[in-house]
Amino acid sequence: MADLKNTIFVNSKKVEVNNVHHDITLLDWLRNHHRMTGTKEGCAEGDCGACSVIIDENGSGSSRPINSCLIRLGQVMGRSVTTIEGVGCVKNPHPLQIAFTNEHASQCGYCTPGFIMSGISLLNSNKKITDETINDAISGNLCRCTGYSPIIKAIKSVAKNRITQNNSQSINKIKKITLGNVTYLKPSNLKELKKHLDEIKSFQFLAGGTDLNLQRPIINQKEDKIICLGSIVELNKITHLKEKIVLGGGVTIESFLEAVRLKMPELVEILQRFGSPQIRNQGTVGGNLCTSSPIGDIAPILLVLNSDLNVFGRNGSKKINIKNFFKGYRKNVLQKDEIISSVEIPFANKKNKIFSWKLSKRYDQDISTVSLAINIQTHKNIIKELHLAAGGVAAIPKMLDNLSNQMLEKKIDDAIQFAIDNLEQYIQPISDLRGSSHYRLEAIKGLFRRLQTCLIQNKNSLSIMDF
Ligand SMILES: Cc1cc2nc3c(=O)[nH]c(=O)nc-3n(C[C@H](O)[C@H](O)[C@H](O)COP(=O)(O)OP(=O)(O)OC[C@H]3O[C@@H](n4cnc5c(N)ncnc54)[C@H](O)[C@@H]3O)c2cc1C
Ligand code: FES
Ligand code: FES
Repeated sequence: MADLKNTIFVNSKKVEVNNVHHDITLLDWLRNHHRMTGTKEGCAEGDCGACSVIIDENGSGSSRPINSCLIRLGQVMGRSVTTIEGVGCVKNPHPLQIAFTNEHASQCGYCTPGFIMSGISLLNSNKKITDETINDAISGNLCRCTGYSPIIKAIKSVAKNRITQNNSQSINKIKKITLGNVTYLKPSNLKELKKHLDEIKSFQFLAGGTDLNLQRPIINQKEDKIICLGSIVELNKITHLKEKIVLGGGVTIESFLEAVRLKMPELVEILQRFGSPQIRNQGTVGGNLCTSSPIGDIAPILLVLNSDLNVFGRNGSKKINIKNFFKGYRKNVLQKDEIISSVEIPFANKKNKIFSWKLSKRYDQDISTVSLAINIQTHKNIIKELHLAAGGVAAIPKMLDNLSNQMLEKKIDDAIQFAIDNLEQYIQPISDLRGSSHYRLEAIKGLFRRLQTCLIQNKNSLSIMDF
């Protein structure tokens, strides 16, 4: 095979990558180097979806939408990308483009290519086309002038007319690519990763890039190597065991969602509200924990389920309980050469109920202001076991063990009242742009009231939108 190392397949054509800065995004490369200006830039931060493109799923033949503004070119070398130009044109439009015209689903048109890409991804998937799946599919796309009803109508109108994108060409065996003065290394297993770790002193790990790629430049001048974790086979594994599920550290949030949909339905809403499909297709479980953000959505639920993290590094492997992982604001206990290779999430005791709620300014595509995860067992109206963890109330995702201990062996109503009356003793949230300290305290109190209603009415209330 010819050397395809410097190649990206764009709309099924080989395109060579030459003379680019190491930091360039897929979006900038498409627009500025190849004049493919159908893909738009709105926010350049993953929030608006105007830059959506479809990328192959690691050569598997299936595809998914991502935000091209959040992907470094080095991450997608050898991959296959479909842009709006590959979908249809004025002379030969895609049925969804015709439907957008018929339903008046576009006004200024700036957002339209992004909506078309999200709509086509849904139409090409094996999901049923319902209001719910359409709403979810376009939850990462913003439109400021048309309004969403015509867009939803347009997608529905072609639901029966699914069209397969034939774009499965791609090579994923690229192990090393140099762009500018930076080398992207792509080990395909942990053994190869170990070799890099033994040989290289200064580098940066990169998984999906939905957090790291917001930083520009991605690495400083001293670190001229990026180790991409996306191709490491062990990191992409999902193992279902009798008592737990084990997720590789590189499993995407979307795959996590699909893996727990049946077995841990309590997690579905919080995972479905994680960013947007574009973000969930790219962002990973390991990346979420390693950002160690106090408002990361996964940590509280993993804390109350007492999950273990498997760590791999230059000196071998070890296990860390998640309660010992977070050290301070955006800090954790990992050494520079260590990664989270997998996460072991035990299923809750059958007698226990799990709740996980996130409050944010918008339902979709928004990071938490506060969140609360609860693992609780009650017997005859008395709390017998309780694990509480909250996000957005301290520098780290926080277990509220002292409060849980005080609530044990109390009647549900008394315990909840105790939590509400004394919350200030257990958490002292800060004020920031997302919410004031006062708001955060009141919001957590509200979530305790929600817990009380669920327990008293014996509801497995999963939605923050209920009652
Ligand atoms: C628009 C938008 C919406 C978002 N919405 C949400 C949301 O709703 N909820 C939420 O919690 N977050 C959200 N995020 C944040 C982000 O998407 C997540 O934190 C995501 O899980 C990060 O994973 P990643 O693979 O993209 O990490 P990357 O950006 O690749 O990496 C983040 C950091 O972790 C390190 N790292 C990555 N993987 C590993 C590993 N396995 N071991 C060791 N270190 C590793 C990297 O070196 C880097 O320092 C959002 C981000 C954006 C841009
Ligand atoms: S430009 Fe807004 S999500 Fe990429
Ligand atoms: S049509 Fe103008 S932003 Fe959507």
